[in-house]
Amino acid sequence: VDLQPLNTLAIAARTAYFARVENIEELREALAFARAKKLSILPLGGGSNIVLTGDFPGLVILIEMAGLTLEKNLRGTRVSAAAGENWHRLVMQTTEQGLGGLENLALIPGKIGAAPIQNIGAYGVELRDTFTDLLAVHIPTGELHVFSNKDCQFGYRDSAFKGAARDQYIITQVSLQLPADWQARLDYPALRQFFTERGQDTASLTPAAVAAAVIDIRNSKLPSPDDIPNAGSFFKNPLVDADCYRSLKAAHPDLVAFAAGDQWKLAAGWLIDRAGWRGKRRNSVGVHDRQALVLVNPGRGSGAEVTCLAEEIAEDIRAKFGVNLEPEPRYYP
Ligand code: EPU
Repeated sequence: VDLQPLNTLAIAARTAYFARVENIEELREALAFARAKKLSILPLGGGSNIVLTGDFPGLVILIEMAGLTLEKNLRGTRVSAAAGENWHRLVMQTTEQGLGGLENLALIPGKIGAAPIQNIGAYGVELRDTFTDLLAVHIPTGELHVFSNKDCQFGYRDSAFKGAARDQYIITQVSLQLPADWQARLDYPALRQFFTERGQDTASLTPAAVAAAVIDIRNSKLPSPDDIPNAGSFFKNPLVDADCYRSLKAAHPDLVAFAAGDQWKLAAGWLIDRAGWRGKRRNSVGVHDRQALVLVNPGRGSGAEVTCLAEEIAEDIRAKFGVNLEPEPRYYP
């Protein structure tokens, strides 16, 4: 099976085996098949956070479980969504009903099952803020396990599914609690600015109005994978200690950084931009011209082209700023 239409970087690659699963039984069958044949597994949702570095020698499992329930409770609304549901559609469905909590996460590509793995986040909100629990099939045994918010060990673009539980589970359902006492979260400067620039009173905002603003901001700098193949931010924003931050800030007064506990989170996009990479092309691949943190693949180049460019950028940032950049998407195989 050709994986090019199934990854948003549009990298051409093939897989040895392919299964499409719509429920837990089908998933268990696919896992049993992989176990019997000793195949490695690539669970695939929207394909928006992977880099295919070559053909995949194992079994790709396309997660297509569907279903969504909303249930009122004393604290607000509990939302349970099957792993194959589209994330942005869930954001739209809830905000259109006046339910707040997910509006800052509008337009994030991908499926619900992938959202907890990297604790998706944008505009000052992360999945963990509303996440309550998930169901996941344990790959070695086929058993269904429950993970609470605490079990998931969420961090910035991080969770247990990237650490101790990596490659051990396939998430089948995610549940969130949307608060009854919703308030707009406008901590992110660009989001607050959106409303103040338009003279809009931020006290009377609705979840749908915030979602519309987030969509507007994202569309102004992030390329849609349908137009220009990409995987969103290609690097995580690096966390550095106070000493490192102070010396960088002294050398570059316009450095963009946010306090994160006793550390500082540097805007990797700013570093890459300042190093002169924004808009640069390398054969088929390049750096987006409106957001330097996004690598693009307009010429539908190979995974090797993408990873070479990423390495070249990371090396340059190390040389110029002494900071290590870590790729955000996962490389397969
Ligand atoms: N900046 C530049 N030049 C650039 C890009 C950014 O100077 O080319 C500066 C901006 O002016 C701004 C700062 O860097 O002052 C931060 O930029 P932006 O608001 O675009 O956010 P980001 O830190 O680059 C992160 C997330 C995004 C998320 C936005 C909004 C990561 C790795 N990325 O990007 O997430 O949408 O914040 O919250 O944390 C993703 O993960 O795929 C993603 C798009």
